Amino acid sequence: MIVAGFDSSDRLAKNLSKILKARYTKIYTSYFPDKETYLRYNTNLKGQHVFLVNSLYYPNDKIIQVSLAASTAKDLGAKKVTLFSPYMPYIRQDKRFKKGEAVSSRIFPKLLVDIDEFITIDPHLHRYKSLRQIFKIKTRVLSTNLLIANYIKKNFKDPLIIGPDYESYQWGKKIASSIKAKSMILKKKRISSHEVNIKGLNFKLLENKRVIILDDIISTGTTMIKTLKLLRKSRPKDINIICIHGLFLENSAKALKSLGVKTIVSTNTIPSRYSKIDILDLFKKKK
Ligand code: R5P
Repeated sequence: MIVAGFDSSDRLAKNLSKILKARYTKIYTSYFPDKETYLRYNTNLKGQHVFLVNSLYYPNDKIIQVSLAASTAKDLGAKKVTLFSPYMPYIRQDKRFKKGEAVSSRIFPKLLVDIDEFITIDPHLHRYKSLRQIFKIKTRVLSTNLLIANYIKKNFKDPLIIGPDYESYQWGKKIASSIKAKSMILKKKRISSHEVNIKGLNFKLLENKRVIILDDIISTGTTMIKTLKLLRKSRPKDINIICIHGLFLENSAKALKSLGVKTIVSTNTIPSRYSKIDILDLFKKKK
């Protein structure tokens, strides 16, 4: 197997190749003057299983990159191409909310040209139960629940875990049960990208607690900010935030800090200064 990285995923791909004891290659990409993508391999791929690593946040250019990479690998004699994208894009548009809209979650898999297998981490499964409903190729979903549970056990004594919406049940509730912590799953109604209504907080339970608000994605931060504003009416000991995929758009991490959040932690599916939980531990063999 050859692990192949791109500019934005070089470090992740290189470290993964060491864990998998596979050869590493960096795919060279640049732009033509008209902004079309140029791509070149520097190694022989004949008969190889090419394991592309590219986390598809800010996805549009990267979708072209991985499709060119997969197709070229096949052209050059690779026998199989896997794409490992720790963050799965376009999955939240899982329904035609307004007449005429693209249901992009169903279209995204079709854009992955010549890829035989898709591996991702904790995709935002809401209306879909499984990726099999939208992919024709083989898919594998990895979960960070155990990594997050271990992080919480190590760093927070007697926490109360809050999931801001029903979907966070699959993370918040499950992680809380696995470490025998209390949890609260709230009800959220999304009005627009920047507007949500959240209810269901039991203020009494929060008194003097180490609160962790746990969600899969922090994008604009709207969900977290709304939850934090609700928490103002209670008196927890401190408030912390953990997410799997931290996009932290629109300066949202700063906004969260200014609302009194003590610590912000994410995994490195999208690398940032808050990435304290390493997803590569999922590939290490248990001793
Ligand atoms: C959606 O329901 C997800 O679980 C997150 O709550 C959501 O994607 C966060 O987005 P934002 O930070 O823009 O509210």
